[in-house]
Amino acid sequence: MKFGVFHTHGSSWTSFIFSSLMLCMWTSVESWSYYYSDKKMVWDEARDWCRENYTDMVAIQNKGEIRHLIKWLPKKDTYYWIGIRKINDTWTWVGTNKALTVEATNWARGEPNNQNKHLKGGAGEDCVEMYIQNRYAGRWNDERCTKLKYALCYTAACKNDSCHHGECVETINSHKCDCFTGFYGEKCEQVVKCNKEEVTTPDKGSVNCTHQYGDFSYDSSCQYSCEEGYQLNMSRPLTCTGTAKWSEQPPTCEPVQCQELSRPERRIHKVFRSPWPIQLPVHLGPVPCSPGAREWLLPAVEMMQT
Ligand SMILES: *[C@@H]1O[C@H](CO)[C@@H](O)[C@H](O)[C@H]1NC(C)=O
Ligand SMILES: *[C@@H]1O[C@H](CO)[C@@H](O)[C@H](O)[C@H]1NC(C)=O
Ligand SMILES: *[C@@H]1O[C@H](CO)[C@@H](O)[C@H](O)[C@H]1NC(C)=O
Ligand SMILES: *[C@@H]1O[C@H](CO)[C@@H](O)[C@H](O)[C@H]1NC(C)=O
Ligand SMILES: *[C@@H]1O[C@H](CO)[C@@H](O)[C@H](O)[C@H]1NC(C)=O
Repeated sequence: MKFGVFHTHGSSWTSFIFSSLMLCMWTSVESWSYYYSDKKMVWDEARDWCRENYTDMVAIQNKGEIRHLIKWLPKKDTYYWIGIRKINDTWTWVGTNKALTVEATNWARGEPNNQNKHLKGGAGEDCVEMYIQNRYAGRWNDERCTKLKYALCYTAACKNDSCHHGECVETINSHKCDCFTGFYGEKCEQVVKCNKEEVTTPDKGSVNCTHQYGDFSYDSSCQYSCEEGYQLNMSRPLTCTGTAKWSEQPPTCEPVQCQELSRPERRIHKVFRSPWPIQLPVHLGPVPCSPGAREWLLPAVEMMQT
C-alpha cells in the first residue's frame, strides 16, 4: 500500500509519496491525505478497506482535488474505485448519502452509459471508477460493482477538536470551521460579547447575571428583580444574542399598583377604647399593598377616644 500526503505551504502544493512504514507519523497532519490499495477489490470490499483503514472512499469535491489525484496516482492495470454509487437509481455520494448534483458530476464523454445492463446476469453499472492517465484523466465512468479495481481512499483533516464551537468542513488542503451562532474565529474559539454597560441596574431593583461561555457573552442571561413594593415592567431576562445585542431593554421597577377599594370601611373590624386621646392614622398610604397581593394593607384597628 502506498499513500500520499499533501499540504500547503502558502498556496503551493507539495505532494509526497511515502512507504507505508511512515504511515503512523502522518496521522496527526491536519490536511487531507489520500491512499490507494495495492490489491484489487470489488467496490464493496474497497469501501470497507477505506473505512476500516482511513476515513472513507474519495469523494471528489473540487477541481484542485482532481488535479492533485491525476498527478499523483500511478497508472495501473485498472482504474480506481471512488465513493459514488447508484442507490435507488440515483447517483449518490456514499460518504454523505447525498445525491450527486448535476454541477458536481465529472463523467467522461458518453458516460454514464450503463453499458453492461443487457449482458448475461443483468447487473447494471452501478459503481464509479475514476480514469487516470488516459485522455479522460480525472473523469468518471460507471462500472459494474463486481469488477476488481484499486480502492482510492482519504483521511479527513477534521478532528473532533478542530472546531471548538462549530462544525468542521473538509477542504482540499485542510479544513475550515463553520461556527455555531454566537461564535467566530478560525477554530470558532471566540465568543460574541454583548455590551456590559447596557445592563443597567434600575432604581429600587437589582440584576443577577449568569454566564454560559464568558462574562456578558453569547447566551449570558440577566434576570432583574425589584425591592418589595415594586414590580418589573417587563419580566423577561436580558439574553445576549448571537448578534452581540441584548434581547431586551432593561426593565424598570414600578410601584405596585393596588386595585381600587370599593368599601374600605368594611374592613375595619375591631374597635378599641382608650382612656387618652390618640391620633387616628390620617394617611392610609399609597405604597403599602404587599407585593403581588394587590390588596391594601389597611389598619386593622380603629382607635376611638372615649
Ligand atoms: C486494512 O488494511 C489492512 C492492511 O492493508 C488489511 O489487512 C485490512 O484487511 C484492511 N481492512 C479492510 C476492511 O480491508
Ligand atoms: C429506496 O427507495 C425505497 C422506496 O422509496 C426506500 O424504502 C428505500 O429505503 C430506499 N433505499 C435506500 C438504500 O435508500
Ligand atoms: C475525540 O472524540 C473521542 C471519542 O468521541 C474522545 O475519546 C476524545 O477524547 C476526543 N478528543 C478530543 C481532543 O476531544
Ligand atoms: C443569581 O441567580 C442564580 C441562578 O438563578 C442563583 O443561583 C444565585 O444565587 C443568584 N445570585 C444572587 C446574588 O441573587
Ligand atoms: C419599562 O419602563 C421604561 C421606563 O418607563 C420604558 O422605557 C420601557 O420601555 C418599559 N418597558 C416595557 C417593556 O414596557
